[in-house]
Amino acid sequence: MRRALSYAILAPNPHNRQPWMVDLHSSTEAVLTCDLQRLLPDTDPFSRQIIIGLGCFLELFAQAASHNGYRAQITLFPEGESGAQLNERPIAQLTLLEDSQIAPDPLFVHALDRHTNRNPYDMERSITRNDLTEITAVAGSSVSAGGVVQGKRLQDLRDLTRGALRDEILDPRAFQESVDLMRIGRAEIEANPDGISLGGAFLETLSLLGVLDRKQLADPDSSAFQVGLDMVDDQALTAMGFVWINTRGNGRREQIAAGRSYLRVALRVTGLGLSMQPMSQALQEYPAMQPYFRKIHSMLADGSEARVQMLARLGYAAKIAPSPRWALSTRIRTS
Ligand SMILES: Cc1cc2nc3c(=O)[nH]c(=O)nc-3n(C[C@H](O)[C@H](O)[C@H](O)COP(=O)(O)O)c2cc1C
Repeated sequence: MRRALSYAILAPNPHNRQPWMVDLHSSTEAVLTCDLQRLLPDTDPFSRQIIIGLGCFLELFAQAASHNGYRAQITLFPEGESGAQLNERPIAQLTLLEDSQIAPDPLFVHALDRHTNRNPYDMERSITRNDLTEITAVAGSSVSAGGVVQGKRLQDLRDLTRGALRDEILDPRAFQESVDLMRIGRAEIEANPDGISLGGAFLETLSLLGVLDRKQLADPDSSAFQVGLDMVDDQALTAMGFVWINTRGNGRREQIAAGRSYLRVALRVTGLGLSMQPMSQALQEYPAMQPYFRKIHSMLADGSEARVQMLARLGYAAKIAPSPRWALSTRIRTS
């Protein structure tokens, strides 16, 4: 169980909050709960994205178990689902069953190389349709996945994600939630290995010089704020493709399914040598995002009841270092 969990905690998750907490009952039994102190109430008011992150965790857990000769039996919401607001009820009961017949999931070999890459993507390198087909093929049958790698739709999505991300940064309350989670420099990252890491020699120096701190990052008149806005263009406008994952409705189980699917898609992307970054703002439910939310659903969900759960840009990019994680021991409770 600990071995499988040590991979699961590497799952992608919103703002790297790592909202998982595991009650370990034995070497083959555990219960996954959500740490309610780690929600994002302003940008994720119904914890839809938090649950998607827990879905990513469960998929990685199952894949890691399969590589060790175990089938992961995952019983979702064993005490029932919480409503619009998450409560203490467990997310999943986890049981590992030894299974000599189990086929190790081939996507798992990419687990340690998968990272969210926020660098600009190479605009000289297109993504082939074949690669896009391979990516969407692993999404699974409980969701519907789509993608684009050229043409007007690609440009429309670049413009839409750019607008949504700019408006999020310009929304003081939403942006403050991110600023509060920024960890500036090595000491802060090591003290709290979660949230949004602003590390590396350059940012460390700016921080030591006193020109980069949380107050300036949140101040629209500062140069640090302007750099943040410019980064939006570097990200959205260099997207060389997009992939999205839709579910029929928006129940908690569908959110988990979307997370499991996103993890598979991200591993396939990694295996193809591509980079990926979710661009989630337009999918979020807080008031400033409403126009984007309606537009993206009319574009990608055909105006049906379907919900776009994940939208991510694709491209080739310089490699990046892994984001930090809390040690497994801090995410486990033993009785
Ligand atoms: C539901 C969900 C939404 C996310 N939305 C964004 C986003 O809008 N922008 C972004 O840069 N990363 C986004 N991420 C990526 C996380 O920030 C990232 O997974 C986390 O920081 C851990 O880093 P890693 O993926 O490199 O392990 C999202 C991840 C998930 C699961």
